[in-house]
Amino acid sequence: MSDNAVPERSGQGDSRRLLDRTAVITGGSAGIGAATVRMFLAEGARVVIGDLNAQAGEELVAELDDVGYAGRVRFQPVDVSDEPQVAELMSVAETEFGPIDVVFNNAGIGGAIGSVLELDVEHWDQTFAVMARGVFLGIKHGGRSMRASGKGGSIINTASIAALSGKGGPLAYSATKAAVANITMNAAVELAHLDIRVNAVCPGIIFTDLMHRGHEAEAEAVIEQIQPLPMRGQPEHIASMVRFLASDESAFVTGTTQVVDGGYLAQGSLGVHPLPGVSNQPSYTGMNYGTTGRGTEIRFLEPRDDS
Ligand SMILES: NC(=O)c1ccc[n+]([C@@H]2O[C@H](COP(=O)([O-])OP(=O)(O)OC[C@H]3O[C@@H](n4cnc5c(N)ncnc54)[C@H](O)[C@@H]3O)[C@@H](O)[C@H]2O)c1
Repeated sequence: MSDNAVPERSGQGDSRRLLDRTAVITGGSAGIGAATVRMFLAEGARVVIGDLNAQAGEELVAELDDVGYAGRVRFQPVDVSDEPQVAELMSVAETEFGPIDVVFNNAGIGGAIGSVLELDVEHWDQTFAVMARGVFLGIKHGGRSMRASGKGGSIINTASIAALSGKGGPLAYSATKAAVANITMNAAVELAHLDIRVNAVCPGIIFTDLMHRGHEAEAEAVIEQIQPLPMRGQPEHIASMVRFLASDESAFVTGTTQVVDGGYLAQGSLGVHPLPGVSNQPSYTGMNYGTTGRGTEIRFLEPRDDS
């Protein structure tokens, strides 16, 4: 076993925060989701990773098996926008590991990009299908499992700082994240009597492929200008907030959106230094499929006299 090996169970004195809890993590093949998978396993959870990117997911499971987590983590291919597939994801988790305790609805893409005057309706709908419908379906089917078990549970949804301001992300993406923040509040109120807590996390600029899209140096330079805390936002910064929201440490926390952004929102004036790829007057239109394996489609617009 390597240095990353799972610690020995130590019986009653075991202080791992998610010991033997069953967790489902969507978008768990990469970035924030993958960091959360690792952290949950280290805290004693059993994890089902649901993701569109099967190759990355299977590779991650193989790596985790090798460091001592075999039998505690598995991959299930899923498109979170497809209801039967989400229902199947939850059913697989229950069958493999027992009643679901935690659902992290985290899968995401860049979505429709470019000028609001040019956005394709189809791209708009795809963006909402993944990030708003996907979160709704995760709550619906994860929540049903929690209701059936009678044990309650914790559901965490990935929103974004883009939910809370203009110019925090592309227009359609930001609108889905605002929807996630609101779905979180309403679901938390409805499900509270079942002891199901629902919270959202709002990451700031987190250094993943989805964020820098291969342009690491350029992204680093922009971050230096616009983020108060002088450090890279890492997937683990979000994972540790998700771990808190998943565990009993947050037993009285529900319906909230937790901002984890290095002080980015606190300073205001986001439009002065837009994020990489978020300009005030985009000269393009298209669709960013993130790290799903499908390439970004982009069309540059002809300059106009009145633009
Ligand atoms: N990185 C950031 O700066 C940042 C900031 C705010 C919010 N977020 C949000 O955090 C979440 C994770 O982002 P990340 O940066 O880790 O990105 P990432 O690209 O590293 O990981 C996202 C994962 O979601 C999967 N996915 C995409 N569409 C899917 C679908 N339809 N069904 C199932 N899986 C799908 C991808 O295959 C990928 O494995 C997203 O919801 C994103 O919007 C990221």
